Amino acid sequence: KAYVPGAEPKADMGHLNKELMELVNSLRPKSDERQRQSEALEALRTALTTRWPDCKVHLFGSTANQLSICNNNDIDVCLELPDLPSDSNTKGDIVEELGTLLTEAGMQNVLPLPKARVPVVKFVVGDNGTKVDITVNNILAIVNTKLLADYVSIDERLLQLCYVIKHWAKRRQVNDSYRGTLSSYCYVLMCIHLLQQRQPPILPCLQAIKPPTHFRTVGQWVCDYYDDLEALKGFGEPNKETLAELVWAFFEYWAWKHDYNNAVISVRTGGFLTKSQKEWTRRVGNERHLVCIEDPFELTHDLGRTVDRQTNGVLHKEFERAACVLRDHDNPLEKLMEPYRA
Ligand code: GTP
Ligand code: MG
Repeated sequence: KAYVPGAEPKADMGHLNKELMELVNSLRPKSDERQRQSEALEALRTALTTRWPDCKVHLFGSTANQLSICNNNDIDVCLELPDLPSDSNTKGDIVEELGTLLTEAGMQNVLPLPKARVPVVKFVVGDNGTKVDITVNNILAIVNTKLLADYVSIDERLLQLCYVIKHWAKRRQVNDSYRGTLSSYCYVLMCIHLLQQRQPPILPCLQAIKPPTHFRTVGQWVCDYYDDLEALKGFGEPNKETLAELVWAFFEYWAWKHDYNNAVISVRTGGFLTKSQKEWTRRVGNERHLVCIEDPFELTHDLGRTVDRQTNGVLHKEFERAACVLRDHDNPLEKLMEPYRA
């Protein structure tokens, strides 16, 4: 159904908000799940420090930034080897070696992908069922995990919105960057960006506040930003919008308001850039730049690059479907989250 400018949801937003908050609470990871994940991490740490005594083993991604929803058995781990040269061939070699080592250590379904853009080994911790993605010296991911964690601690509506959007994206099968839709990391950046745009803003732009207080440079990328969270306490309070209103704003934006032809979403600047500014106007190799989301640190990296013509259509249809369900139904939640069936 078509866009009607200014149209508001039909539902009682107070009631919808109550239901969404219940959903959020039901999606919080249970303690036994967290227990299993930390046991898996410890088993892994033991195996790795035996081989590399001076390595560090970091947790990153959603289990490290509070954005993990329950029944997510996946953890993201980074093996940090201080003296490793930074070219990706060496990382690929380590990934090969890791594959052998993890198999010998009793891990299951070990799958090394040394040629991936970010070389990785995927495996399952034997008796524990936790699925692990382990990467080598993936320092950018550690830094961006901290950035996301810092945003999460500024206003609780970010976590709530991310939970709802991640749950929706899984139900509607649009959360798989290997299949041309968007990664969870990408959805989280879309949520942060939305909250930076609200009037008054719910989130600041941590990379634009001067001077920075957190310093880190990774290769060519300067990853400094402001992280004095104590000083930012209550930042979003002048804005009284509820979760239900923000969920509606998210889908309304991505269904009808985003300028897919020209705009690039940039959490780094707290605003928008153009595709021509980024030189993301034409297809290069497999990178099509149909939905453009700038990585906050790795500035040449368009997180929407995995989207192709076909999946772009799928995504747009899903955003429109969600917006229409919210707009046109008295009681939209069940329909909004209805599992996708081909
Ligand atoms: P779930 O596993 O679905 O709960 O989400 P997640 O927050 O763990 O996100 P995901 O598994 O998509 O990514 C894990 C982490 O990898 C993110 O938090 C980022 O730190 C990093 N990451 C993922 N995709 C990219 C990418 O394309 N570029 C970079 N630089 N980092 C990425
Ligand atoms: Mg993850």
